[in-house]
Amino acid sequence: MAKLKAGVLISGRGSNLLSLLRACAEPDFPASVAVVVSSHADAAGLAHADRFGVPKTVISHRDYSNRESFDRAVSTVLESHGVELVCLAGFMRIFSPWFPTRWANRILNIHPSLLPSFKGLDVHQQAIDAGVRVSGATVHLVTPDLDAGPIVAQAAVPVHQGDTAEKLAARILAAEHELYPLVLRWFAEGRVRLEPVAGKIPRVVIDGVAPDAALLWRP
Ligand code: GRF
Repeated sequence: MAKLKAGVLISGRGSNLLSLLRACAEPDFPASVAVVVSSHADAAGLAHADRFGVPKTVISHRDYSNRESFDRAVSTVLESHGVELVCLAGFMRIFSPWFPTRWANRILNIHPSLLPSFKGLDVHQQAIDAGVRVSGATVHLVTPDLDAGPIVAQAAVPVHQGDTAEKLAARILAAEHELYPLVLRWFAEGRVRLEPVAGKIPRVVIDGVAPDAALLWRP
């Protein structure tokens, strides 16, 4: 069966990109990375694309007069590589409403907290300041509302007493690297569907997996 073509959008380090590239390099993995787009020319993650022989493009917002024209340029590159699913992996640009509409239910993001808690930036410090005992990562569908789209899967890790934001980030990042490829696999296998919820955003159902498969617990 043809592999699902993913486009990965990055802005920096690209460790989640690397975890996706590694998964896609497995012969039996049902998805491939068709292109990597970076919003920053100096993103370290671009080297991973080179290492795996995946085409890469840099698109700087500085070359565009507004968000939508930037978004359209990104979209054109994704389309030119036949991308079917967009994976945001540390992509630091906020889209205009145009992009999530164009790619509706076809954009994933990984966020380093257990959404809906701790949206936005500085999430690890937010979690420590709130005194939560469990934090983690969430892969969700992207909608025009920041960090508020339907949740696909989560990885939970403990928050230790005395944790710094750096220590917690590292623990969560290790879980992210397991979580994102798992979700990409489910998408490629056609297991992910949306179920309406009255008066709310739809909920994600993953067909043909164990009831607890969409939660990783990494103590
Ligand atoms: C990750 O923590 C991810 O959850 C967040 O941005 C960070 C990106 O890290 N959205 P990397 O570039 O994948 O290493």
